Amino acid sequence: MPSSTPTSQATLTQDELKTRVGQAALQYVVPGELVGVGTGSTVNKFIDALASMKDQIKGAVSSSVASTERLLALGIPVLDANTVDRLSVYIDGADEIDGHGNMVKGGGAALTREKIVAALAAQFVCIADESKLVQTLGQFPLPVEVIPMATRRVMAQFAAKGGVARVRLKDGVPLVTDNGQHIVDVTGLHITDPLAFESEVSQWPGVVTVGVFAFQRANVCLLGTSAGVKTLTFI
Ligand code: 5RP
Repeated sequence: MPSSTPTSQATLTQDELKTRVGQAALQYVVPGELVGVGTGSTVNKFIDALASMKDQIKGAVSSSVASTERLLALGIPVLDANTVDRLSVYIDGADEIDGHGNMVKGGGAALTREKIVAALAAQFVCIADESKLVQTLGQFPLPVEVIPMATRRVMAQFAAKGGVARVRLKDGVPLVTDNGQHIVDVTGLHITDPLAFESEVSQWPGVVTVGVFAFQRANVCLLGTSAGVKTLTFI
């Protein structure tokens, strides 16, 4: 289980909690280096805070078109992941995180690029409000990016595991990711062994990325709570 350190007291809205953890994440940004940047409403708070450090960093490696646009609008350079051997830190949100740093991600459809940038980083710092902390992954519908021609077969494979998979829609048609693929969201799962689950589903033909982050689990979680920002450190 993680060690836990409360750092401040306040009654805060969920938006304020996101702002607090976004600002708290600045302490993990290494001056003179690049920072890996995730995607989502919590990360948007981090990006906004990062603008105050933009003259101290080389820039960012981004996990989505949306984050890239936000970073560039604030004057933060964005580098291609292929120009980078290693990042000291990757900062991103999560849809669920358990007591070991395993996460479900992809609620913003950016899971594939998130996993790629996370894999470049020595440390994954998750920023989240306390609603994201769970005992066991699987309450949040699990996002899985799939090649469209494999959707039906992948959905059948999840049905065989007791899950119900639905194609994610946007404006009434299948959502298209930054990578030109589709997303299925799977309910009814109880993911007791995240490493084994990620390993298995990642091998199904047509699966681009499964939204379980166990191989790229968080090292640290900055958790926004009613008692302030708690730092959870995962062994
Ligand atoms: C995007 C993600 C996000 O990190 C996740 O959905 C959490 O987002 P938010 O900070 O908006 O709650 O995985 O693909």
